[in-house]
Amino acid sequence: MPNSVMHTTIEGDGQQVPAAVSAVGLRKSYGDRAVLDGIDLRIQAGSVFALLGPNGAGKTTVVKILSTLIGADGGQAQVAGHDLATDPQVVRAAIGVTGQFSAVDGLITGEENMLLMADLHHLSKTEGRRVTAELLERFDLTDAAKKPASTYSGGMKRRLDIAMTLVGSPRIIFLDEPTTGLDPRSRHTMWQIIRELVTGGVTVFLTTQYLEEADELADRIAVLNNGRIAAEGTARELKRLIPGGHVRLRFTDPTTYRSAATTLTDATHDDEALTLQILSDGSQRDLRAILDRLDTSGIEADELTVHTPDLDDVFFALTGSTTLPAPTKETAR
Ligand SMILES: Nc1ncnc2c1ncn2[C@@H]1O[C@H](COP(=O)(O)OP(=O)(O)O)[C@@H](O)[C@H]1O
Ligand SMILES: [Mg+2]
Repeated sequence: MPNSVMHTTIEGDGQQVPAAVSAVGLRKSYGDRAVLDGIDLRIQAGSVFALLGPNGAGKTTVVKILSTLIGADGGQAQVAGHDLATDPQVVRAAIGVTGQFSAVDGLITGEENMLLMADLHHLSKTEGRRVTAELLERFDLTDAAKKPASTYSGGMKRRLDIAMTLVGSPRIIFLDEPTTGLDPRSRHTMWQIIRELVTGGVTVFLTTQYLEEADELADRIAVLNNGRIAAEGTARELKRLIPGGHVRLRFTDPTTYRSAATTLTDATHDDEALTLQILSDGSQRDLRAILDRLDTSGIEADELTVHTPDLDDVFFALTGSTTLPAPTKETAR
């Protein structure tokens, strides 16, 4: 259990990896409603961290606190190695925030939005133009640069928003629900952009309601529920919290089904559906062992499907009914 805010994580090889974000016991209430009830976070520099939670879970509140837009009622946090409470300006200079609601001004062109940002960051006219041209190109907005941003599609607006955030060369970027409301293609483009940011060494803190997105992008995922982190870990670690991986054999002929059911004594039966379920971790080795058993016993199923628990199962288990105990820090590691 952390008893103080640490700046670094000791990795297995003894190397010190700086934490881009570390927070202990963050609290925030609105009226008598505790929105955040003691949040601990540790995000390694250069990684993608996803804060996953349903609507109203407090994701935006976390982003607002960590990006110095609002103050916490309790706890402490360091971002880019600086304390939020004592060094907010330094933190602000190191981060970029793309909010759930776009900062793009629709009345002016994409290029003008970018140049305005360059001005805000006190870049010289030449440097501002250079950075603007480069970022518009990088985000495939060069053709639309001279058009009012109000004419942009949702995906283009998000891209412009991120391009604007990058004008200040932030080391840490907060993306609050970057793909909510985007069509599948724009979403994939956004995922690609996020991956490229990380390749460039940027730390990404993203919030999402989409499990698939967290699974796809994040090195580590924290599930926010009822003002607390219900679970934290890699997608693989979180999935491991949920039992239920199995192989399902389906039969069409009742006689074949009955003979298989008699042979596979460890399988769960569904006599109505003529299916058998065998517990399995879905690994190649495990599947081979199951197939060998079927072959040896001369069992020929009409259909064989592998079911591995996905993040959806984890999410519903953690945020829905309390079917699972909250994992300890050790389990989540
Ligand atoms: N300024 C505010 N005043 C009162 N309640 C707020 C305010 N901002 C957020 N909340 C409440 O806090 C809870 C968490 O909000 P938010 O952080 O926006 O959640 P999320 O981003 O996960 O959807 C919600 O119930 C919301 O209504
Ligand atoms: Mg939000």
